[in-house]
Amino acid sequence: MIRHFLDLSDIDAVSLRLILDKAAALKAARAAGKPTPLLAGQKLAMIFEKNSTRTRVSFEVAIVELGGHALYLSGNDLQLGRGETVADTARVLSRYVDAILLRCHDHAKLKELAENATVPVINGLTEFSHPCQILADILTFEEHRGGIKGKTIAWVGDGNNVAQSYIQAAALFGFTLRIACPQRLGPLPEVVAWAKDRGGHVDILDSPQAAVENADAVVTDTWVSMGDPDGQVQARLLAPYQVNAALMALASPKAVFLHCLPAHRGEEVTAEVIDGAQSVVFDEAENRLHVQKSILLWCLSII
Ligand code: CP
Ligand code: NVA
Repeated sequence: MIRHFLDLSDIDAVSLRLILDKAAALKAARAAGKPTPLLAGQKLAMIFEKNSTRTRVSFEVAIVELGGHALYLSGNDLQLGRGETVADTARVLSRYVDAILLRCHDHAKLKELAENATVPVINGLTEFSHPCQILADILTFEEHRGGIKGKTIAWVGDGNNVAQSYIQAAALFGFTLRIACPQRLGPLPEVVAWAKDRGGHVDILDSPQAAVENADAVVTDTWVSMGDPDGQVQARLLAPYQVNAALMALASPKAVFLHCLPAHRGEEVTAEVIDGAQSVVFDEAENRLHVQKSILLWCLSII
């Protein structure tokens, strides 16, 4: 069976923990200057239909440091951009490379690519989810606050793709997730139902103050995601959900602040918080690199 990395909900908790443990080991090896050529000669095709800094660069550096090569493919430059089918693109790329990463809007396109590829496909973000990001967040949280099981994470803001991967993670890693968002911008009910069916503790609230109370981490994301059709309306609805010092003061004094980046200071978070002592956002960004390596190793059955 091909090991695709499309959503956390497709992967068992033991494998996810293995990926995190390996990421921590790879981080230590890199810090010690030890080479890790575990994917020597392997090739990763990376298709981007949206902008990216972290996902693009961390995956490219990851495969290079593992001894392989990355091919950056802009969606517009590929024949995919002028009508070649997703299925044919999947079949052709599978003849050249060992794994394919896709960042696109429509989650169905990612699934179609995976259904037709004969190599692993990795979700580099869709409008539905961003699973690579959440593993980096958990690695970062655990470095600062210890095991995430039983802890309380507060998500404040849009119930978007990153929030939906958090919901899946809550069930798989056993943490409590409190989401504060305007009712119109809540996560998909089926995602919440999936987590609750598996015993996940996920609460959807209106009040950011209630969500953050004594939480071990406070997380937010941009008010307007790539491809969102009505940014002005979203920004107006989300204005009461800004993470600022007054809100952070309600969390545990040891709480960390997480944000997948890119951030908009003065909108979803104040500069005081994101540039303050509780913020671990640059560790979080760095950890994308270590986690991407580990995801590649898992997809290619090295771990
Ligand atoms: N967090 C994240 O995925 O960043 P990029 O959009 O820069 O890849
Ligand atoms: N929710 C954001 C995340 C960017 C990494 C977006 O989809 O634009």
